Amino acid sequence: MVTSILAIMGSPRKGETYSAVQRFEEELLRFEEINMEYVMFSKLGVADCLGCHNCITKGENFCHQAAKVKELQDKMLAADGVILATPVYNQHVTAIMKKFLDYFTFLWHRPAMFGVKFIGISSGGGMFTPVFKFLKMNAKNWGGIWVDGLGVPHYESLTDKYRQKIDGDFTKKAQRFIAAIKDKKLPNPSLGQLLWFNMWKINAVVGKDQGIKDFEHWTRTNWFTMDYYYPAKVGYIKKWLIRVISKLMRSFMRKMYKGY
Ligand SMILES: Cc1cc2nc3c(=O)[nH]c(=O)nc-3n(C[C@H](O)[C@H](O)[C@H](O)COP(=O)(O)O)c2cc1C
Repeated sequence: MVTSILAIMGSPRKGETYSAVQRFEEELLRFEEINMEYVMFSKLGVADCLGCHNCITKGENFCHQAAKVKELQDKMLAADGVILATPVYNQHVTAIMKKFLDYFTFLWHRPAMFGVKFIGISSGGGMFTPVFKFLKMNAKNWGGIWVDGLGVPHYESLTDKYRQKIDGDFTKKAQRFIAAIKDKKLPNPSLGQLLWFNMWKINAVVGKDQGIKDFEHWTRTNWFTMDYYYPAKVGYIKKWLIRVISKLMRSFMRKMYKGY
């Protein structure tokens, strides 16, 4: 079967970031039969987020851009791998990429991207670390699997030695992405992920009285009865640790907010 890759493009133009993703596509094709779709997010006519919070409180269907958001979410879920591509703007992602991510904030509350593999590609002078840190944080909080980040500095201006390094990065990271895509197991969550899951569990209960959609969703998905969003092996010691730390987190939240 052909491997499907979706590239969400966070640049306003088909420039260096686009070229970097095209080059990555060529690398992927050396190892695997792939079908690649490029989405220029800025060309989809998605209006600005109104800050209405409907996606969080009532559900994502109540977003004023619901149809476009759903189409993008379905594309990500159907893809074997997703590339989040953005130039570096002020040592961060572009406003276009940020807007794309803002539309999926509800996935932090109600993750859905289980098993979806994400890789970041960024072009710029350097300083890719904050870009990938941010993209990774979002992909992981949606329930996705972060594979890697590929930073591509201005290729034409590079020394021969550095060009060789970047050439090697393209190959290495393409191989890593394909290997991750082929691994169909859902990873066992880390202690941090288990704690984060518990924090959202607490939030879902607290938010119930404020009419936030999460409680209904958590009940429907049976997450309240589970150790994680999907079946996971969690030993007794970890369970005990999670209970203790969750209590501490809750008492910390109680000092700040009503309802905890
Ligand atoms: C508004 C703006 C801010 C930028 N900020 C940075 C930056 O902080 N660090 C950096 O290395 N490059 C920065 N750049 C340069 C771009 O990241 C770089 O030229 C990138 O390759 C452009 O990608 P594109 O051709 O896909 O638009 C900036 C460019 C623009 C237009």
